[in-house]
Amino acid sequence: MTIEEVHLWRGSPEQQALRSQFVKATQFAYFDKQLRHPDWRGKRVLDFGGNKGNLLLDPACAISHHDYYCLDVINDAIEEGRKMFPDAHWVHYDRYNCSFNPSGIRDLAVPDLGVEFDFILAYSVFTHTTFEEMKELVAQLEQRGRTLAFTFIDPNWNGNLRWRLEKHNPRDRVETLLAESREAQWCSLVNGTELYVNDSGVWDSQTACMTYNIYYTEEFMRAQFPNAIIKRPVNDERQHCCELT
Ligand SMILES: C[S@@+](CC[C@H](N)C(=O)[O-])C[C@H]1O[C@@H](n2cnc3c(N)ncnc32)[C@H](O)[C@@H]1O
Repeated sequence: MTIEEVHLWRGSPEQQALRSQFVKATQFAYFDKQLRHPDWRGKRVLDFGGNKGNLLLDPACAISHHDYYCLDVINDAIEEGRKMFPDAHWVHYDRYNCSFNPSGIRDLAVPDLGVEFDFILAYSVFTHTTFEEMKELVAQLEQRGRTLAFTFIDPNWNGNLRWRLEKHNPRDRVETLLAESREAQWCSLVNGTELYVNDSGVWDSQTACMTYNIYYTEEFMRAQFPNAIIKRPVNDERQHCCELT
């Protein structure tokens, strides 16, 4: 059984139990390195799609809880984060996401928290939204902070797409899908099995979508965000970083 973050919130009791044993606490170290070890003291940080505040789980995290703001489309994650880190700021952003928040509101604007952020970080968030959502949300977030850093996944880096396809598909199907995506600049994968090349694929509430993953090549992201610094993965992670200032 392949278990992803969404199963912790929308999965069966068995899937929830399995996923709750998995705790990833490397996000702070990742951004700290990608952003060249900034002085985080007194810096206000928005963790966009921050879930229950996993960024704060790293004991070395240098962001003060008072300066930490988390926005996420999963209300239960926001409430759990609030319980764990009551000094931080927690806001439910009820925007539609076919996987994480299928009952949410389409195209809801990012709420104005009345704060000019020093850093806006988004780890593995635009890896689970359409291309169109990424472009629109990045444009909004650029207005809210000085530095915006978000991750994306290059399908070809370290066999990223193959790695995920192999979790969900028989071997011959994996090879067929990889052949279809060979020239792709970007592609999306619904429920681990339906691949859409240079297309965001299905993103409607009529389709039972449990997992939604999207991939962009490094070259494609450079073309989409010509002012960005694009960095390759660090710390043995799979995700690239796109930094906009
Ligand atoms: C794979 S999880 C990563 C969570 C967290 N950033 C971490 O690294 O642990 C993706 C997160 O993005 C959130 N998300 C998806 N679409 C979003 C959106 N449009 N706005 C804000 N959060 C979103 C999901 O609810 C989920 O918590």
